[in-house]
Amino acid sequence: MRRYSRITGTGSYLPPRRVTNADLVAELAQSGIQTSDEWIVERTGIRARHFAAPDVTSSDLALEAARKALEAAGCQPQDIDLIIVATSTPDMVFPSTACILQNKLGANGCPAFDVQAVCSGFVYALTVADAMIQSGAARRALVVGAEVFSRILDFKDRTTCVLFGDGAGAVVLEASETPGILASELHADGRYVDILCVPGGVSGGEVLGHPLLKMDGQAVFKLAVGVLDKAARATLAKANLTDADIDWLIPHQANIRIMQSTARKLKLSMDKVVVTVDQHGNTSAASIPLALDHAVRTGQVQKGETLLLEGVGGGFTWGAVLLKL
Ligand code: ACO
Repeated sequence: MRRYSRITGTGSYLPPRRVTNADLVAELAQSGIQTSDEWIVERTGIRARHFAAPDVTSSDLALEAARKALEAAGCQPQDIDLIIVATSTPDMVFPSTACILQNKLGANGCPAFDVQAVCSGFVYALTVADAMIQSGAARRALVVGAEVFSRILDFKDRTTCVLFGDGAGAVVLEASETPGILASELHADGRYVDILCVPGGVSGGEVLGHPLLKMDGQAVFKLAVGVLDKAARATLAKANLTDADIDWLIPHQANIRIMQSTARKLKLSMDKVVVTVDQHGNTSAASIPLALDHAVRTGQVQKGETLLLEGVGGGFTWGAVLLKL
């Protein structure tokens, strides 16, 4: 009998400091940077984001989200036999944030590693966990997206610093005789490394290069819209389904205009799209599991419904996961 994987619990966590556009506009004005709530809302749909306190790391946010997902799945940390954390803002260069999270959870012993695919990270991590469960290498995985993107923002660059926020989301993914995950697609094209990057690295005790986020917003926008539609169609085709079978689209929460365009191409009305970008901003690898958990806990999505998760981000990377909740 074929072995599938299925999400049995979701959880998420936002650091308590909520920064509205008005708060950010006032803070940036102190360093002479001009922006406005109107510009941010019109171009991105973002109204607020959360920023972690300076001493809070990705693994701290991941821990809170993971505990909630474990509780929802009705299991203990010791029941987990695989931990994957998607993050581009790890606690340290090494070891992985997944190992740090494992120790904080007290789930010591199981394999734990990070996946680095920026805003596509959660879709990548979920696909890897699904493959490991299907192969028999794992039975019950904890898959987390966690970011403190505020640490890598250039608050002198108004074209990027208004877009991102901090947070974490997690799922427990378990072996199952019924799906679960129906199909997935992952892609990357390294020709586009430069359009969205933090081009710095640690060497000889110093940061070489630039340690803050740089983005060509228009290039990202154009690429994102094109690849998301292709990935959605390829994933649906693998599962022998069509766009009419999608109950909910849960896209990476980067920008409401990218989400509207993706929905339009899939002939989905926006009331079939889970939207949290207005309250969370772009939390990179955390955005999809944050949106998923929000939709589960508010009762927006129901067990048995078909969800299409879609990620796109630096690399350039993109992908989609189609699943039955
Ligand atoms: N406040 C006020 N004005 C601003 C701001 C700001 N925060 N940022 C830029 N502007 C100005 C620019 O200086 C420019 O002024 P000018 O016309 O006088 O030169 C004007 O606004 C228009 O700038 P554009 O860059 O052309 O604005 P655009 O409409 O392309 O919107 C944005 C920028 C929102 C970044 C858009 O390109 C976009 O959504 N790109 C997608 C990128 C994205 O979402 N990235 C997230 C990370 S990637 C990912 O997660 C997939």
